[in-house]
Amino acid sequence: MEFSPYDPNLHRDPYPVYRELREKHPAFHNEGLDFYVLSRYPDVAAALRLPETFVSGKGLAVGLPAREAGSESVPLLNVLDGDEHHSLRRFVREGFSPRSIAILEPLIRNVARELIDDLCQQDVPDLVRHFSNPLPTIVISELLGVPITDRERIKDWSNAIMRFDPTTPGNIDPRAGVGPAFELAEYFGAVIEERRVEPRDDLISRLLQRRMAGRQLTKAELVGFGFLLLIGGHETTTNLISNTVILLDDHPSERRRLIDDPALIGNAVEEFLRFDAPVQGLARTTSRAVSIHGRTIPAESKVLLLFASANRDDRFVDEPDRFDVGRKSTAHLSFGLGSHFCLGAALARLEARIAFEELLKHIPDYRLTQRPVQRVKSGPIRGAVRLPIDLGRVASG
Ligand code: HEM
Repeated sequence: MEFSPYDPNLHRDPYPVYRELREKHPAFHNEGLDFYVLSRYPDVAAALRLPETFVSGKGLAVGLPAREAGSESVPLLNVLDGDEHHSLRRFVREGFSPRSIAILEPLIRNVARELIDDLCQQDVPDLVRHFSNPLPTIVISELLGVPITDRERIKDWSNAIMRFDPTTPGNIDPRAGVGPAFELAEYFGAVIEERRVEPRDDLISRLLQRRMAGRQLTKAELVGFGFLLLIGGHETTTNLISNTVILLDDHPSERRRLIDDPALIGNAVEEFLRFDAPVQGLARTTSRAVSIHGRTIPAESKVLLLFASANRDDRFVDEPDRFDVGRKSTAHLSFGLGSHFCLGAALARLEARIAFEELLKHIPDYRLTQRPVQRVKSGPIRGAVRLPIDLGRVASG
């Protein structure tokens, strides 16, 4: 069997391939790009719970030369390990708890409603361009305090970074994906300097002023964190919304359940995440040899942890390929697990709930008009490039 997350054919429907991996090759090795793949729920969860053995610091993508731990000019929370990771995470996590995030509900709802109004005015309404793409960028820009007028630039940088594919000819140089990252970091550095001179009521200004255990965040740490939020908060949430718009088009009876009982939507978000994860998987590097399923994965190997496959494992849920918005399960791995568990999970959940409360209230009968859907070309991300729709009946109010 062949498997690479960069295979363009995979993006149409990766789930039968994941099933084959789970059933026949639970510790698959891609010889060409030299990485291993874990695809069963218990294995992926166990690896995420062992961050000393499966380390993040040497990069989260497969097919790239190993990065030197700590080689970036700015420290990024998601590729720090051990104490360094723990101490930075403690510093920045305040403000991301479900309770702190809940106060954003009116802002998010207003943005969602305005975007739906705008979507309904379009000659060719596109759910990605007019809704799922701008919503998270506007929300995270507001939260951080970066000017809303810069959001197109941020979106372009974010797309270039997340969709970087090392197997495309010309992309072999790992620095190719770093160019836009560098520009985004530079941009963010300038915003920080502005807030230092003139603080406002935003996350950047609050982080600049925060003191903990006698120290403050360095400028490099702040740049790295802002950078990560702009990237992490954008493509992921956009594609959670896009993937769900497709799922509800494919499953009219599940859509009907949500229209008839909007109180179900909060719980259903967990099923949206489980069934078609926006981040399909991320890699770790082994710090020692690991024996698994009769195979020895040597030290210093790249191991891809397939969250999206784990979520469809019948070792984890019954009837995993059935999309059921009433399913009670939050133990999916779409936000990861353990020490690196997604810091923005509460925000993403809130944005998705509000997005579908508003979409299903205002355009309950929408239909996608372009099949097959054009998928985002990216190793880790599963999503849609565009989703033209027929609005159907538009309900105001
Ligand atoms: C549906 C939307 C989202 C998905 C599917 C998602 C997924 C993930 C995953 C899988 C990880 C774990 C990475 C790892 O284990 O290596 C992660 C980490 C992270 N996410 Fe998210 N994310 C989403 C939204 C957000 C948002 C909205 C933000 C910020 C506003 C955010 C910020 C972060 C940060 C800072 C980390 C790093 C945490 C750490 O390493 O300690 N994410 N996310």
